[in-house]
Amino acid sequence: MAFDRDLAVVFAAHAARRFPGDSAGWEMLAATGARSLRMAHEGRYPARWHLTEAHPDAAEVACRNVALNPDVRADVENADARRGSAAAPFDFVDLDPYGTPVPFVPFALAALRDFGVLGVAATDMAVLAGAAGDACQRRYGARPVRGRLGPEGGLRVLLAYLDRQAAEGGRAIEPLIAYVGSHHVRAFVRVVPIRSVGERPIATIDETSWDGPPLGRGSPWGPLWTGPLFDPTTVDELREGPGLEHPDRVRRFLAIVREEARVVAPFTYEPNELAHRLHRSEPIAPAELVARLRRAGYVAARSHVRDGAVRSDAPRAVVEAVAR
Ligand SMILES: C[S@@+](CC[C@H](N)C(=O)[O-])C[C@H]1O[C@@H](n2cnc3c(N)ncnc32)[C@H](O)[C@@H]1O
Repeated sequence: MAFDRDLAVVFAAHAARRFPGDSAGWEMLAATGARSLRMAHEGRYPARWHLTEAHPDAAEVACRNVALNPDVRADVENADARRGSAAAPFDFVDLDPYGTPVPFVPFALAALRDFGVLGVAATDMAVLAGAAGDACQRRYGARPVRGRLGPEGGLRVLLAYLDRQAAEGGRAIEPLIAYVGSHHVRAFVRVVPIRSVGERPIATIDETSWDGPPLGRGSPWGPLWTGPLFDPTTVDELREGPGLEHPDRVRRFLAIVREEARVVAPFTYEPNELAHRLHRSEPIAPAELVARLRRAGYVAARSHVRDGAVRSDAPRAVVEAVAR
C-alpha cells in the first residue's frame, strides 16, 4: 500500500513537471485521503482535489486530514462515488477499491477530460488471476490465465476491459504505467479520443497458435491487452523524490521498468521454469538469458512481475534454445 502511494507520488511529481498550472483531480474512494493528500503535498499534482468517501467516519477523518495540510487545495464529500461528481471534468481520477473497480469505471471515465489520466487498482486477484474463472467472465467479460502468469494475465484482462469501456464513450486507453503488485494490479492510463489511436492491441490467445511463454491449460484466454504496459517516455521521466516511504524499492522498480518498457511482449519466462521444462539441472541466470537473447537480435529485459522473470519478443523456440 505504502509502495503504491510512493509510486503515485512519483507519478504526481512527474505530472506536475509536465503539466504545470491548474489541474483538477478526483479521488473517488478516498478513505482518509492518504493517497490524494500525499500526491498533492509531496507531488504537487493535481493542483485541486475533490474527494468522495461513502463511510461518514472515514470522510470526517479525511476532512480533518485536509485541514492538517493547509498547502493542499481539497474538498471532501461524504457521498457515493457512483453518483458521479458535479465537479467534473477532471485531469486525473483515482479509483482505489477494495476488490474490483468495475462498478466505478463508467463514472471514472465519464468524469475524465480527453487526455486525462485514470489511476486504477484491482485487488480481486482470485477473479482476475484465474481461480474463479466464471466470475472473471461475468465481471470482466474475459477468460483468465491461471497459475504462475495469472497476475500479469489479470492486469491484461483489466486493461482490455478498460479499453472496451472507454470505447463506449468514443475513447481509448494508453497505459503509462501498468504493473503487478503483491496482491493486486494497478495502472495509470491516459484516456484519449479513439480517432487519435490505431487498432486496439486486444486479442484472445489460443494455445495452438501462441508461441510466447506457456500459459498452462484453459485456452483460449482473454480478451487480453497485448500492447505495452509502460510508456517509455513517462517511465524515463519518473524521478524518486524525497520523502518516499520505500525509496530503495521505488528505485529498484523504476530501474527495472525503464528497461522493461522497451519490450512489448505479453508474459514472461523464468529460468527455473525453463530449466524444469527443458530438463536442465542448472537454470540460466536471468541476466545471462537477457544478454543472450539480445545477442540473438531480440529485445529482452528483466521484468518487475517476479524476481528472475524475463520479458522478450523472441519466439518460445528461440528462448528455449538460448536457455539450453
Ligand atoms: C481501499 S479504500 C481506499 C483507500 C484510499 N484510496 C487510500 O489510498 O488510502 C476504499 C474506500 O472506498 C470507500 N467506498 C466504498 N464504496 C464507496 C462508494 N460507493 N462511494 C464512495 N466511497 C466508497 C470505502 O468506505 C473505503 O474507505
